[in-house]
Order: sequence, then C-alpha cells, then structure tokens
Amino acid sequence: MRSRVFSGIQPTGVIHLGNYLGAIKSWVDLQYKHDSFFCIVDYHAITVPYDPADMRQRIFDAAVANIAAGLDPDVATIFVQSHVPEHTELTWLLNSITPMGWLGRMTQFKEKSEQFKENVNVGLFDYPVLQAADILLYKAEVIPVGEDQVQHIELTRDIARKFNSTFGDTFPEPKALLSPAARIMALNDPAKKMSKTLPGSYIGISDLPAEIRDKMMKAVTDAGPTPGQEMSPGTANLFTLLKEFSAPETVRRFQEEYDSGAIRYSELKSVLADDIVAALAPFREKREELLGKPVVVKNILRQGADRARLYARETLLEVKGKMGLL
Ligand code: TYM
Repeated sequence: MRSRVFSGIQPTGVIHLGNYLGAIKSWVDLQYKHDSFFCIVDYHAITVPYDPADMRQRIFDAAVANIAAGLDPDVATIFVQSHVPEHTELTWLLNSITPMGWLGRMTQFKEKSEQFKENVNVGLFDYPVLQAADILLYKAEVIPVGEDQVQHIELTRDIARKFNSTFGDTFPEPKALLSPAARIMALNDPAKKMSKTLPGSYIGISDLPAEIRDKMMKAVTDAGPTPGQEMSPGTANLFTLLKEFSAPETVRRFQEEYDSGAIRYSELKSVLADDIVAALAPFREKREELLGKPVVVKNILRQGADRARLYARETLLEVKGKMGLL
C-alpha cells in the first residue's frame, strides 16, 4: 500500500518562499506518488490574535495559492480543517492521554507565548495536540514540513505510541519529511527564520516583481568571503535560494566566484531576483485566474472536506470504540 501523506498550512494571508520551498513544493511532487491530504488549518490560526473580518478571505486565498502552486484537486484531497469537525473531536480524545509537560516543552509554544504575551490562551498550548489529531485522523505516515515543525511531528509520534500502548495498536508512527530547503532564513535578519510575522524577512509568492527585487537587494550578506571561514548565514541563505531557482551553471558560476573571492553580492542578488520573478510568473497567472472563479475554488474545498470526512469518521469510530465510548 502507498503510505499516506498529510500536511497543513495556516491561512496567514501570505505564503512566502519558506513555506513554498520548505513544504508546498514537495507536496506538489508527492501528490502523484501517495494518497495525499492537504489541509488549511484555520483552527490553528485562531490561537493568536486575528481579525474575524479577514479570516474568510485568508482561508480562500490560502486555497487559491496552494492550487496555483501546483496542488491538483483531481489527485490530492485539499480541504479546510474546520469543515471536518472530527479534527477537534479527536483532539479532545488525545488531550486525555497527553501530559501537559510534553506541551510545555514545545519551542513554538514558548516563542508564541513570548510574542503574544497578552493572549497566552489554552488553544495555543494545545496547538500540537490538534496537529497530532490532523495527522492521526488519516493515519498518515509521511509528513512533508519545514524544520520548524519537526518537534510537533515527534510529539505526534509520542502521542501515537502512547495511544497504541494504552488502547491497542491503532496509529502508525508518522515521520517528518524534510526538503533540501527546510529552513529558509529571514532576508533582513538571517539568524531568524523567514516568517510572515517578521516584516522585511520574506518574499511572498504573490509579490510583484518590483517588490521581489526590492526585498532581495536589501538582503543581508557580509562584507565578502573570508578565506578559510564558513559562509555567513545570510550568504548561505542566498545560495540555498539560488540552488532552488537558478540554473545549475548560474549556481556554479557564483560558487566559483565566491571561492575565488571575486563575487559581487549585488550581482548575485540581481540575478537571483530575476530568476525568482521568472519562476513565480506562472504561479501569479494561475492565481489571478482562480481568484476570478470563487465558486470553482469553494467546490474544490467542499469536495475535499467530503472525502476527508469519510476517512476521519472511520478513524474516530475506531478510536471511540477502543476508548470504551461506543
Ligand atoms: P505554517 O503554516 O507555519 O507553515 C507551513 C509550512 O511551511 C514551513 N515553513 C518553512 N519552511 C522552511 N523555511 C521557513 N522559513 C519556513 N517557514 C514555514 C513549515 O514548516 C510548514 O511545513 N503547524 C503547522 C501547520 C500544520 C501541520 C499540521 C503541518 C497543522 N497541522 C499537520 C503538518 C501536519 C504550521 O503552522 O505551519
């Protein structure tokens, strides 16, 4: 049997190159090889402050962007988390076997509770259990994510193991699948990861060519290569992007210039910006087209939820039965 793939993305309003290279790009490849479920996780997104007036549009935009980036609704199941209520029901059941200590150790919880000090809610704390429920509901085994999500996938394994040993074998233990660009750093601060919440850190995949060039030209590098020393994080990040977006001969040329100390970062940035603009052009076109067809997109999400629910219901019945609730 083909192992099942599951992954999720928050409807943040912007999909940046980190999301694309760390996750979505591999989803697009995997969907043709595996039974795949891709979920827009709106219940995760409400654990930090947000404007309810924007949320519906953010969910729609996330769906459009993912389909425009290559997710094919004819082969993959694409749906919105809140359309499948079994996600929250399984969360509650898993809550009952998850020690609070496991959640208190999560890096993302610590970072977000620092960032949103005035609203450290129970949902933010329980976030990883909802993520475990997302995955386990479909008994998924392959979870393509960026590096920042690995800790949550390991926790999902722990929860699966605990459930299996308490109530009997039920869930396979899922594994994170990392892409070669699993950690894209912030352009303006390469010590941090590229993130929607860091202005200036990201290039959005629907950014206009002028914005892309502008952000790229401001990317932090270093004063030039120092012989015998490791590449600085900002320069290494640009090389990672170069490998993803530019032709192999371009990468080789800049690598040689770097090695010989002759590299001009302004030229590297300018070539890289042009290659990113060219690579994203078909995406922008497809996105424009889909934005004009809201009914088509909504139907894709409705059908996706209907299909996802068939699997979700079956797992939930099995879990409730094993827990003595049926
Ligand atoms: P989210 O919405 O923050 O990000 C979506 C995906 O993009 C990856 N990513 C990155 N990869 C490389 N470099 C970066 N700078 C970068 N920033 C983000 C993330 O690792 C992720 O794969 N909790 C998840 C969503 C989720 C989920 C799931 C994922 C909910 N349930 C079940 C997998 C399985 C999140 O907030 O991702």
